[in-house]
Amino acid sequence: MAAPVAASAPGKLILFGEHAVVFGEPALCTAIDLRTEVFARPHAEWLVDGASLDDPKYRYVKAAVRRSRMENPLWLEIRSMIPTGAGLGSSAAVTVAALGALASLRGAFDPPAIAREAFEIEHEVQGRASPIDTSTATAGGGVLVRPDEGDDLLWTITRDTRRWCLHRCPLPELTFVIGYTGIGAATGPLVAGVKERVDASPKAASMVREIGHITMDGLVALQRNDLVAAGRLMDQDQGLLDELGVGHPMLDRLVTAARKSSYGAKLTGAGGGGSMVALTDEPERTAQAIRDVGGRPFLVHTDPVGVRRMP
Ligand code: MEV
Repeated sequence: MAAPVAASAPGKLILFGEHAVVFGEPALCTAIDLRTEVFARPHAEWLVDGASLDDPKYRYVKAAVRRSRMENPLWLEIRSMIPTGAGLGSSAAVTVAALGALASLRGAFDPPAIAREAFEIEHEVQGRASPIDTSTATAGGGVLVRPDEGDDLLWTITRDTRRWCLHRCPLPELTFVIGYTGIGAATGPLVAGVKERVDASPKAASMVREIGHITMDGLVALQRNDLVAAGRLMDQDQGLLDELGVGHPMLDRLVTAARKSSYGAKLTGAGGGGSMVALTDEPERTAQAIRDVGGRPFLVHTDPVGVRRMP
């Protein structure tokens, strides 16, 4: 039997700028040390984890298969450490790892091409989206998305009138405490809800721009290691995200509990449940505070490695 070909990709943690980035505003994200692996082996029919590729839970993988135009069927297997619906980029990681494995089989492993394809797939499956999750899963490490090109440009991605320039963005060594609400939330409807608000209200549109300013200030604060300022900006970002309708009472509970031992805390990813992130130098205390109010805490670190072929 032929040996499987495999690729892996990391999950992600958005520090500043979720939702606003869909409108072309800046956002700051880091890959995290929770990864998804996809194995591919020639087989008589297409299967994923022994099941049909048509199962809706494999729609990202199916889209990756369709786009990669493989001639012969494969048996794919997914192993993931990233909880789904938790705002930590599980769909992006599986999409990127699947594209990576399929590209390896074709001898065409090219990260910028994988990032572009993965964004198209996310757009197709999720609806309106930005490339932040898929590009971070591809590039690894810290990633800054901006509408204009600056130093350390990785690649640019365009869609209708929007243009995202993805940059490598080194961040200081930080430990983040994630608090998972246990409530899975689909990203597509949350993104669509924010668009409705922005289309209907100039105030919502100006909140989106304000999140863009917070992101750039937050980046400066983190790079100066000014955690007090970074934490305050996270709190402000959380207030705006809440007003844009992507909060949840359980997120409020976790954020409030975590703030007692943190510089700041906010939801991360699409919201509506999912997870929050706290910036803290007392990770154990913050994790316990999250646990005490019913959340599931875990500690994550930046993963510098993006999509990679596995030996
Ligand atoms: C989801 O992880 C991040 C959002 O900004 C959606 C997107 O950028 O596609 C909410």
